[in-house]
Amino acid sequence: MDLRLTLLLICLCSQGAISVEDTNKESVPLVPLIPLMPSNPIENVDNQNIPQLENEYTTEAPILATTAAISTNRGPLEDEQNEECWSTGRSPQSREVLAAAIQKLGVQLLQNLETTPEQPNIIISPFSILLALSQLALGAVNETRELLMHHLNENTLPCYHESLNNIFMQLRNNDLQIATRIFLRQGFQLKQNFVDNSRRFYDSDPAVLESLQQINDWVNNATNGKITDFLTSLPPNFLVMLINAVHFKGEWKSRFDPRFTSRGVFYLDDKHMVDVEVMENAKHPLSLFIDNELEAQVARFPFMKFMSLLVVMPMSGRVNISSLSEKLNFSDLYNRLPKERAVQVKVPKFKLEYSQELQEVFIKLGLGEIFSKPNLAEMADGPMLVSSVMHKSYMEINEEGAEAAAATTVVISRASNPVFQLTRPFVFALMDDMTQVPIFMGVINNPNPGAPVLQRGEHGSKDKVGFPMDKNHAGSFGGPPK
Ligand SMILES: *[C@@H]1O[C@H](CO)[C@@H](O)[C@H](O)[C@H]1NC(C)=O
Ligand SMILES: *[C@@H]1O[C@H](CO)[C@@H](O)[C@H](O)[C@H]1NC(C)=O
Ligand SMILES: *[C@@H]1O[C@H](CO)[C@@H](O)[C@H](O)[C@H]1NC(C)=O
Ligand SMILES: *[C@@H]1O[C@H](CO)[C@@H](O)[C@H](O)[C@H]1NC(C)=O
Repeated sequence: MDLRLTLLLICLCSQGAISVEDTNKESVPLVPLIPLMPSNPIENVDNQNIPQLENEYTTEAPILATTAAISTNRGPLEDEQNEECWSTGRSPQSREVLAAAIQKLGVQLLQNLETTPEQPNIIISPFSILLALSQLALGAVNETRELLMHHLNENTLPCYHESLNNIFMQLRNNDLQIATRIFLRQGFQLKQNFVDNSRRFYDSDPAVLESLQQINDWVNNATNGKITDFLTSLPPNFLVMLINAVHFKGEWKSRFDPRFTSRGVFYLDDKHMVDVEVMENAKHPLSLFIDNELEAQVARFPFMKFMSLLVVMPMSGRVNISSLSEKLNFSDLYNRLPKERAVQVKVPKFKLEYSQELQEVFIKLGLGEIFSKPNLAEMADGPMLVSSVMHKSYMEINEEGAEAAAATTVVISRASNPVFQLTRPFVFALMDDMTQVPIFMGVINNPNPGAPVLQRGEHGSKDKVGFPMDKNHAGSFGGPPK
């Protein structure tokens, strides 16, 4: 059984670190690039674990149980097509295509998300993000559905949702918690078909939203307390939130002895380093090789239950994700992992949080339409748009193992009219419409030359963007410059 990637949690850590609020140590550990993958343990390729995997991955019971209730109101022909799609979704080919799609989305995001001095690391759950967009696709029709499908899998999977459902069920079997929910504004009506499909494919049930606390409590519970304040305010005009959370806690197959953990260093680049706590093992079983094309060392740290942490560490300096990403193929690295052998290892301990509004990066990747004028007619009637895709994540590595959590929400709001604020210098021409003769023309740099000039930020909250969703309505024109 050739199980490729089913989950990919990627942590790109370069310089500095975000310390989680309860860490008050002044130095924080770092690692260069830590993708977390489910294990396709190399040693399993030829041993007796295969039948066990096979059984787990072809479990049909949960899928059938969830479909049974729905198919009652369908005709026999639809049932037949349905059944065909469910079985296509369970094929290894579908799984492979989808795994590749999730990898690709993850790498694209790493490539396009920017690090800052305040947030020097990136930790995302491509699976969680893809899941949220896929559920959005269930509500989209025509060009919007096509756009989403193009970005999610390049239209290569005919039975997309069935295939993702299959992976969803497998991952759950793998001791990974995945929770999903639809939160609705009081009184807002979703189309029944969307509700049915969300439940059927992604086990996502609607609930009326009463307070912000309700969402944050839900995320907190679904991530085992690892993501506490997911949202800081309720988005204006919000109608629907498609939300999911994943939580993973795995124990290393070979634990580190805490007695050997000591202070050490992590090299940020040629000239800089930082103090970290380093776990050590003189004889750690590790699959390790050097990839000459990537000019990187590749190592796999297995967990107890069919998951692994795959690490790619470039030989020189910092991770340059833009040059790495063209060549980075996790399935390929995975397939090339050699047999484990005893290696002397040093691994930094760390505990990091990451939080990012993904709207900007998705616009950069070509999904701008979902934020301006999507066709979501399958979800509900009336003008709607996606006003935010919020992602928050957590990752910890210590002697026992790793814990990682992430939550993603797609927020759908009532479409309001586009905003235009003439709040920056501009050029004007006062035209005669018929002849197009400019009667006046000018440049306005300061419409109030007599007034004292203020420092930016002095003028109350105008320069501050509060909730990232505030600025997102219908393509914000104008506003203060960066
Ligand atoms: C989708 O496109 C078809 C064909 O152009 C059109 O007839 C239909 O009204 C569209 N549906 C929606 C909900 O926009
Ligand atoms: C909290 O999470 C557990 C396990 O993930 C779940 O069974 C339970 O229903 C959740 N509780 C609430 C209030 O959501
Ligand atoms: C990353 O690599 C690309 C292409 O090799 C190069 O153009 C770019 O300057 C590098 N970026 C950094 C920060 O080193
Ligand atoms: C990645 O590697 C796998 C396995 O070697 C291969 O089948 C696949 O085509 C590669 N993907 C890309 C995008 O090159």
